This record gives sequence, structure tokens and C-alpha cells, in this order.
Amino acid sequence: MNIENTVFILCLFIATTTQEEKTGTPKWGEWSQWTKCSVTCGNGIKERIAYKINSYGHMTNESLLDHGFCFDQQYCPVDGGWTFWFPWSVCSKMCGGGTQFRTRACKNPEPRAGGKHCVGLSQESQDCNKDPCPTIPPDFDVRTCALESMFMCESKIHCVNKTLTCDKTLNCNDGSDEKNCRFVINDIFYMGSKLCVLITIINIFMYLKLRR
Ligand SMILES: *[C@@H]1O[C@H](CO)[C@@H](O)[C@H](O)[C@H]1NC(C)=O
Ligand SMILES: *[C@@H]1O[C@H](CO)[C@@H](O)[C@H](O)[C@H]1NC(C)=O
Repeated sequence: MNIENTVFILCLFIATTTQEEKTGTPKWGEWSQWTKCSVTCGNGIKERIAYKINSYGHMTNESLLDHGFCFDQQYCPVDGGWTFWFPWSVCSKMCGGGTQFRTRACKNPEPRAGGKHCVGLSQESQDCNKDPCPTIPPDFDVRTCALESMFMCESKIHCVNKTLTCDKTLNCNDGSDEKNCRFVINDIFYMGSKLCVLITIINIFMYLKLRR
């Protein structure tokens, strides 16, 4: 007997008994709840059962099994995927060769149910601001640093005129005159701190969104 025949006979049986149900005695009891799907990922089978009620109204052990198709993907393996790269961090140095890095997360989607983890690195770095820092002029006199109009560099061995800070040109021997007013993100220079704050908020927001 091949499968097609079996299915045909089963259907015929159900059809007959359904007919019997309509005519009254003996009756079939209520269908049970469907069982859980036979698989947790993909197409499966679910079952329910009904027992025959005899002419005295008692449940007999004669039962009828009904099959249904079900689809469950709750535990299907999901391979991980990378998020986009977050923007490059601010370069560690303003001049003389620094490093910056960027990260991405394996959360788009997150691997689950045995799915593969993302392939590749979650962090990468690159050299940045490779141009040499300005040197201290040979005739530099450290006493000028005491003047009101002068800006002390972070190195504490060099100072420049205050009007030169945040002028988009490095003047300090360590680049610190531009450090707090210039932000490098994805190789683009941004001036001012407001934009920096905004970008930080957006990044935090996106990070939190991806964590969920
Ligand atoms: C139902 O019960 C009768 C009598 O107790 C028994 O002979 C028969 O094998 C049972 N049938 C099934 C399907 O369990
Ligand atoms: C700093 O620059 C201002 C304006 O350019 C100038 O008037 C002042 O003399 C400079 N100070 C020094 C110490 O060079």
C-alpha cells in the first residue's frame, strides 16, 4: 500500500465518521486540543483526538485521530548579521600619527538557535592625523606664555596666541590648540561641540536600539 492510498483511506474514514456524528448515536466526543507541532522549526504535524461515546453516553476507548499541518519557526537557526560600522572614533592625536577605531555588532540579527556567528572582526582601527605636529620655533620664549593673550598648549612647553586656537590650523607643538574644537568623524571635520553632542546622542540611541 503506498502513501497515497493510505491518505485516501484515512480521509474516507474521517468522512464516514463525521457522517456518523451527524446522525446521532453513537456519538463522537469533543476534539481534544491540538498537540504541539511535531517540529520546532519548519513544517510539521499536529494531532487531536476524539473518543466515541456509546449509546449509554459513556466514553469508549475507540478513538479517532485527526492530523493537521503546522508551521513553527520559533527555534529555527538564525545566522548572525553585522550592523553597519559605527562612525570612526575621534583620532587619539591631532597630529604626528594617531589611531582611531570603529566597531560593529553581530546583532543584525543576533545569531540564535545554533545559527552561525558573524564572520570577521567587530572592531578595526586605522592610522589618522599622520601629518607632523608643528615644531617649537627656535626663538620661542616660554615667558610669553604668561601673557593674557596667550594659550598654553597641553605640552606645557609651548604656547600660541589665543586668536590661533580653533582656527582649523595646528599651532601648538602637540596640536592641542585644535583638540577641543574639532571632531573627526568618518574623515570629515566638524567644528563646534554641539554637533559632537548630537552625534554622540544618536550613537547611544542606535546602540541601545540594537541591544534590544
Ligand atoms: C478497547 O477495549 C476493549 C475491551 O476492554 C479491548 O478489547 C480493545 O482492545 C480496546 N481497543 C483499543 C483500541 O484499545
Ligand atoms: C595676539 O594676537 C593679537 C591679534 O592678532 C595681537 O594683537 C597680539 O599682539 C598678539 N599677542 C602676542 C603676544 O603676540
